[in-house]
Amino acid sequence: LSIQASDFKYICDFIKSEAGIVLAPGKEYLVENRLTILAKTLKIESLESLIVKLRQGNANDLRQNVVDALTTNETSFFRDKHPFESLKSSILPELIKKRSAIKQLNIWCAASSSGQEPYTLAMVLNQVPALNDWKVNFIASDISEEMLERCRQGIYTQLEVGRGLPPNLLPKYFSRHQNRWQIKQELKNMIDFRIFNLCKQWPFMVNMDVIFLRHVLVYFNDPTKKEILRKVRQLLKPDGYLFVGSGDNPEQLDSKFTRTEFSTSACYKVISP
Ligand SMILES: C[S@@+](CC[C@H](N)C(=O)[O-])C[C@H]1O[C@@H](n2cnc3c(N)ncnc32)[C@H](O)[C@@H]1O
Repeated sequence: LSIQASDFKYICDFIKSEAGIVLAPGKEYLVENRLTILAKTLKIESLESLIVKLRQGNANDLRQNVVDALTTNETSFFRDKHPFESLKSSILPELIKKRSAIKQLNIWCAASSSGQEPYTLAMVLNQVPALNDWKVNFIASDISEEMLERCRQGIYTQLEVGRGLPPNLLPKYFSRHQNRWQIKQELKNMIDFRIFNLCKQWPFMVNMDVIFLRHVLVYFNDPTKKEILRKVRQLLKPDGYLFVGSGDNPEQLDSKFTRTEFSTSACYKVISP
């Protein structure tokens, strides 16, 4: 390891205050590895010089690059499968009945990473004929500019589409792009991609019927998780649904959430007052 202890501490404080992400001791290797690659990409001579520039505090692009480099973007199509099955077989039919007068649904995917999760949701929504003439407001967001760019491009390698995507959906929703696969425009048009930091002040958004907040709370400490869940609770419609990652337990962090079981998975609702 060549990263200085004081530089590691500086980076830990930086990523905690910028993104809420807690880097435990022992993550020196991760920081050194990712920031050395970033320094090379930006043609900065060394990791130390990169941190000196960052400490000077006037390089906004560099700040965003460091945030991008230190977020973990692991994801896949139809990740964990069950949430999408519950959505398709239970939640969407219920909401379609309840909202038949307004024919509108609001959906937010709050940590969209490289796009596999929001595009999975778009595929599920696209396969519900009843929604054809509905207005579906679908926002997908992430803190990382780089990830949002990947979402907007919607181009995936064979390996990426091979992870989780049912084979029959490949020809249906993708077209060949050289040796990769590009999401069809029809699905891209369904989603409004936005930059959004869950740990800073939230911009105004419409109340949501469904929120996906999966595999992201795990990077934060309990006070940050609680604050995010409080805001999620205010944003969710009284009969809306929240999906979190398999390791998260909103009930434990916020007593106003209650777990709702489906045959294959669980999600969360707000307890009515
Ligand atoms: C492991 S990925 C999970 C992606 C997807 N939700 C899934 O379950 O497959 C975590 C994502 O959270 C994003 N993230 C981390 N901190 C964030 C923050 N403070 N605000 C918004 N997004 C954040 C990262 O950029 C990354 O793309």
